[in-house]
Amino acid sequence: MSDFKVRPVTSFSAELTVPGDKSISHCAVILASLANGDCEIEGFLPSDDCRATVNAMRALGVSIEELNEKGDRLQVSGCRGKFTKPENPIDCGNSGTTMRLLSGLLASQPFESTLTGDEALSRRAMNRVATPLELMGASVRGKGDHCRPPLKIKGTKKPKAINYTLPVASAHVKNAVMLAALRADGKTQITEPSRSRDHAERILDYLLVKNIREENTVTVWGGQTPESRNIQIPGDISSAAFWIVAAAARPDARLLVSNIGLNPSRVGILNALARMGARINERIDESGCEPTGSVEVHGSRLKGIEISGDEIPALIDEVPILAVAAAMAEGKTIIRDAKELRGKESDRISAVAENLRRMGVLVEEFADGMEIRGGQTFKGAEINSLGDHRIAMAFAIAGLYAEGETVIRDTDCIEASYPGFLDELTQLMKADR
Ligand code: S3P
Repeated sequence: MSDFKVRPVTSFSAELTVPGDKSISHCAVILASLANGDCEIEGFLPSDDCRATVNAMRALGVSIEELNEKGDRLQVSGCRGKFTKPENPIDCGNSGTTMRLLSGLLASQPFESTLTGDEALSRRAMNRVATPLELMGASVRGKGDHCRPPLKIKGTKKPKAINYTLPVASAHVKNAVMLAALRADGKTQITEPSRSRDHAERILDYLLVKNIREENTVTVWGGQTPESRNIQIPGDISSAAFWIVAAAARPDARLLVSNIGLNPSRVGILNALARMGARINERIDESGCEPTGSVEVHGSRLKGIEISGDEIPALIDEVPILAVAAAMAEGKTIIRDAKELRGKESDRISAVAENLRRMGVLVEEFADGMEIRGGQTFKGAEINSLGDHRIAMAFAIAGLYAEGETVIRDTDCIEASYPGFLDELTQLMKADR
């Protein structure tokens, strides 16, 4: 396990790009595998989580070739959804996305398979995907009432088309059901209480697979094979978010991030920061499969706000770094309706509260969020990442503005979503000398 020392900086100025979007990378590899020929993927995120998906697809007989050393260009040879039974259990590592999307895919395959994960993934509940997939005729079995991994999946050759309403907005569950629905007879309708990210639907459109979105409902028709086309993936706004907050919350700071995804279902962080008083300009190009563009930030003194309700799904992965922004802002910030965070790579509500307190910030924890008293100076501290990439990176940013040194324990987890983050951070600390 590696540790990383962060020392405070006096200024922040950067122009950078970030690696490919994690969510889109998973979806692109899986949908390209279902296609009717070769697809080249550019801008793929070569991280541990996304590689888990690549290896899973290879274990199902799909040929995937890395076209460059960096690993961000792939050639996927689509097999029209005719996968081979894997010889061994498929290891999803730490990646909840891999396990949930694969469950949907395997629910429509005429064989039995097993999905395993690391210790943290083995603690995560999978009943939310198991329930709709069982309604479609598959058997998805895990441990205990919450259906924890390992998952044993017995697929059905012809899944039943269903109308399903998700109890909570979740792109993972929506995508798992859509993947199974592609081999069903007839149309499947999925309704969410509020809209989750829509990358899978956009890639399906792009690969000429008929689906319709009306308000919070997606309709997908079964019996369709995606058309093989090359896919371009923009930089991950969830990775850019760390630098965006580092610049937005610090008067006189400046940042330009180029080539990032600016899909409306993911830009909640930008909207929340704007309400906090951040000075952010966006340039968006809507011509591709995903809105993509650049974000320019000029730092200022932020103020606390309330973040809750329907805006949560569009910033769910950014809550840890938003909490750091809140600690730097004047006044109090209240985050509500984010109970989902307790079931992520770690319990992110308690991980954020505990680590902010270590830095001397006043935080009250609720079942579904927290209240943060901002505006005090924070002190360098020893941070426990709990093996959660977003916690490690959020607190590395907090360390830039703390008094004294901050040590982030167990930073290997950063490889899950942002290879190169610590190199970028090292450069920024050096530039400040
Ligand atoms: C993801 C969806 C979100 C998010 C996760 C990645 C995805 O999960 O928190 O990190 O790639 O679709 P839910 O939509 O299930 O909350």
